[in-house]
Amino acid sequence: MKDVILVLGASGQIGTELVLNLRQTYGDSNVIASDIKDAHPDVMASGPFESINVMDGNRIAEVVDKYKVTQVYHLVAMLSATAERMPEKGWALNMESLFHVLNLAKDGKIQKVYWPSSIACFGPNTPKQNTPQHTIMEPSTVYGISKQAGEQWCNYYHHKYGVDVRSIRYPGIISWKSEPGGGTTDYAVEIYYEALRKGEYTSFLDKGTMLPMMYMPDAIRATIGLMDAEAEKVKVRTSYNLAGISFAPEHVAESIQKFIPDFKLDFEPDFRQQIANSWPQIIDDTAARTDWGWAHEYDLDKMTEDMLKNLKVKLGL
Ligand code: SER
Repeated sequence: MKDVILVLGASGQIGTELVLNLRQTYGDSNVIASDIKDAHPDVMASGPFESINVMDGNRIAEVVDKYKVTQVYHLVAMLSATAERMPEKGWALNMESLFHVLNLAKDGKIQKVYWPSSIACFGPNTPKQNTPQHTIMEPSTVYGISKQAGEQWCNYYHHKYGVDVRSIRYPGIISWKSEPGGGTTDYAVEIYYEALRKGEYTSFLDKGTMLPMMYMPDAIRATIGLMDAEAEKVKVRTSYNLAGISFAPEHVAESIQKFIPDFKLDFEPDFRQQIANSWPQIIDDTAARTDWGWAHEYDLDKMTEDMLKNLKVKLGL
């Protein structure tokens, strides 16, 4: 059967690049982008787009039916910082939309589901160094609780109803094409914009706040790699740990200074510091490497070079 893919959240940071990448592999007309708001012009111009509010399960089902969709990538979520400001709305959005998609798979309307979890599923009691695949979790944010619960529901639907659902615990994702919104790791994107625009940046996370991070091309390769893996290789049906690089704000600054020697970094931690303090610093992703052959490519300097090169063009500098 021909694969037809629906991406929910195609206007978001990951959705934008995922749609463009999937269209290269599966053909433009076989990848349906959708979101509540219009997507990036490149996404709008290169293939079908449907307006979908993921809280409306009937609307998702209607689009699945219209295009004979076989796979759904469900990327819509309210991220950690925003969800702390609107806990009930964050919980409702993150959970109800997941059920809409899992139930379509349970009813045999779609064959495969991708749904991202996050390092936010871990909490203050989790080992911070080389965080194992299976460990104490106990998340302390609304977003983290929704991701942890979501992981368990994915696992339940897989074992109980045979749903082929796959998931990755994304670290903070850094990208130039599309911007993140409402996350605790967003500083690691903003810092590059401000380095080019102003030559200085004030970080809302403090010096020494080490977090797991990843450059977008690696995140996209991991996502598609997991979805393309043979089903029997995907042994973890909650969500896979995934590691790229780990760094603190001052490490990004040092990397930027290799290209912009006068770049200055200040620190003014806000409420997001507490969220960051509850997350791991370095993730052990042996299971992803062993089960389906994951390997990251970008280190910090390679990422910095690519970010600055592409952002300079984007910002017309
Ligand atoms: N980048 C996300 C956030 O900061 C973590 O998944 O909320």
